[in-house]
Amino acid sequence: MYFSKAPRATFTQLRSFDAVAQLGGITRAAEALHLTQPTISGQLRELSESLGVELLTPVGRGVQLTDEGRELHRTVTAMFAQWRTFEESVADLQGMTRGTLRIAGVTTTEYFLAQWLKPFAEHYPGIEIDLVIENRDAVVKRLAREQDDIAVMMMPPLELPLQSVAVMDNPLVLIAPLGHPWVSRRSVPFKLWSSEALLMREEGSGTRQATLDYFAERGVKPKVRMTLGSNEAIKHAVAANLGVAILSRHTLAKKPANEGLAVISAAGLPIRRQWQLVWRSDRRMPRVASRFMDYVKQHADDGWA
Ligand code: PGA
Repeated sequence: MYFSKAPRATFTQLRSFDAVAQLGGITRAAEALHLTQPTISGQLRELSESLGVELLTPVGRGVQLTDEGRELHRTVTAMFAQWRTFEESVADLQGMTRGTLRIAGVTTTEYFLAQWLKPFAEHYPGIEIDLVIENRDAVVKRLAREQDDIAVMMMPPLELPLQSVAVMDNPLVLIAPLGHPWVSRRSVPFKLWSSEALLMREEGSGTRQATLDYFAERGVKPKVRMTLGSNEAIKHAVAANLGVAILSRHTLAKKPANEGLAVISAAGLPIRRQWQLVWRSDRRMPRVASRFMDYVKQHADDGWA
């Protein structure tokens, strides 16, 4: 009888190696895995010694994979994907009493995803929910690497094999500080507001991209006064009178005045977009994920939208 040899590597070492390979540095991997740098370095040293090959070479302040390292990373990515499929099958066999829902949302979804998750989480207390919030570019990368079962975003990328379903409107509105002269106007003309300097989200944000697309479709060049890395940073800057901005209505309180802000009624706005559930069309969807989708769709029909 033939038994394969036990691999000369542990899952823990491989997970640390995977994190270093993805994040390009030991410090970042240590942060992401909540471990210390010496622990990660030690695991990588042991891994490299037991395999008898160099996996990384230092470059600048980070590290780069050697040819052998790249080969190992390809193998580890495939192994972990296979392991996830195994866990999903076990969860299926056990009838949704355990398992993990892996979901990624773009930054703006943090304002409502808890509401989407609540009924599902209450109904399936044994299912762990692993939610990652990143900006659009980062979520697209995660979809490319098949890291999640479902993503929530407004602009699914065209270059990946994906399916999507729209579940809720996402109006992008113009906001100004309370007391701004536009607050009391019935409708601010397009020419006037579109020539005003805007506070914008960072490169890689879907909100930024949707805003730039809107201007490009109208042949107007937006004036960007300031770039800020989060919706909250923009809201505070607008409330502090630093400028106006276009953001999803979902980033604002029910009564924006409570945050020192007002939604301006402006010609040509809001930019009408929709929140979509997005998943890989070339991968079997785990049962936990399809149950979650049913929940979201049902509640959207009941009046979220
Ligand atoms: P953002 O993305 O929250 O990163 O701006 C929005 C989106 O892509 O839907």
